[in-house]
Amino acid sequence: MNHIDTADFYGPHVVNEIIREALAPYDGVNIVTKVGSVRDENGNWPHARSPRELREQVESNLKTLGVEALDVVNLRLGGGPDGHSPVAGSLPESFGALAELRKQGKIKHLGLSVVNADQVAEAQTIAPIVTVQNWYNVAHRGHEDLIAELSGKGVAYTAFWPLGGFNPLQSSTLDAVAARLDTTPKAIAIAWLLHRSPNMIVIPGTSKVAHLRENLAAADLGSPLMLSPSWTASRYDKDRQTPRGSVLGMCTQYSEYIGLCNESASSSADLLSPLKGADTTGSRIVTVCIGTGDDMLAHRVDTLSAESR
Ligand SMILES: NC(=O)c1ccc[n+]([C@@H]2O[C@H](COP(=O)([O-])OP(=O)(O)OC[C@H]3O[C@@H](n4cnc5c(N)ncnc54)[C@H](OP(=O)(O)O)[C@@H]3O)[C@@H](O)[C@H]2O)c1
Repeated sequence: MNHIDTADFYGPHVVNEIIREALAPYDGVNIVTKVGSVRDENGNWPHARSPRELREQVESNLKTLGVEALDVVNLRLGGGPDGHSPVAGSLPESFGALAELRKQGKIKHLGLSVVNADQVAEAQTIAPIVTVQNWYNVAHRGHEDLIAELSGKGVAYTAFWPLGGFNPLQSSTLDAVAARLDTTPKAIAIAWLLHRSPNMIVIPGTSKVAHLRENLAAADLGSPLMLSPSWTASRYDKDRQTPRGSVLGMCTQYSEYIGLCNESASSSADLLSPLKGADTTGSRIVTVCIGTGDDMLAHRVDTLSAESR
């Protein structure tokens, strides 16, 4: 874990102060903050996007985090009826103010938050961006073209509210997949995101150490599929009709057999039958489970001994 998401207006100030106390001098950790709002005396977060207000917020972040330059500053725009969705509108004045602070060395990298594709394109004519942070999780999708476009350009897509935010995700599909893989529903929701695109960054929040451990374990669930770059989510979708137990192919680079099963497949034995006669020596068997109802994706890896093979 090397990415901490924050804002000086959380509290205000107190979250940055705790992060500073715990993590300064931040060796190997990127602190990503956002500007564009302030916290008022009633606990609301009104927009504050004028160049002067943005400069003040950057200065306040520098002070509360105790740094001379901020790693990443996201300009948070948007709003709308739900308060967290992109709203069309031009951004040169506000983003230009942050680009100027970047030139001055107060910001290392810039990003955007709660924006649409047009706003991303407009910002990129002013200064480079390293990330777009929008609301995205297994139950709240959108921005699919933008995710792909950013991935092609090497720009991270940061999914905020990966676990549902104020309304944590609840789903019988998540529960079923988690039970099957002997993990937690929240870990599955995070793993789903990690599989979604190579440029995906996930920033789950928690107030509990036990939950933090569970959430971090999701990264291990993600790793085997990360090893197979050609097996994208769209490929899985395309092949969803494949009968359970089919061997979809061999990822020769990593010597892995890729298998597909539906939710009712009960064990890796289901996957092994088509492999009879094949030389699987030294191969790992990757079981990919796709929940038929909800595009739910999870997987497990069984390193099989010679006997069980
Ligand atoms: N750019 C923006 O406009 C924007 C807007 C909103 C949020 N964000 C960012 O998004 C990030 C996440 O926000 P968030 O924390 O509100 O939402 P979240 O990560 O989607 O969900 C957090 C909720 O999930 C629960 N949870 C976490 N891990 C769990 C587990 N293993 N088992 C059960 N429950 C679990 C938490 O409860 P417990 O405390 O009990 O674990 C909390 O109720 C933050 O960094 C925030 O800054 C950005």
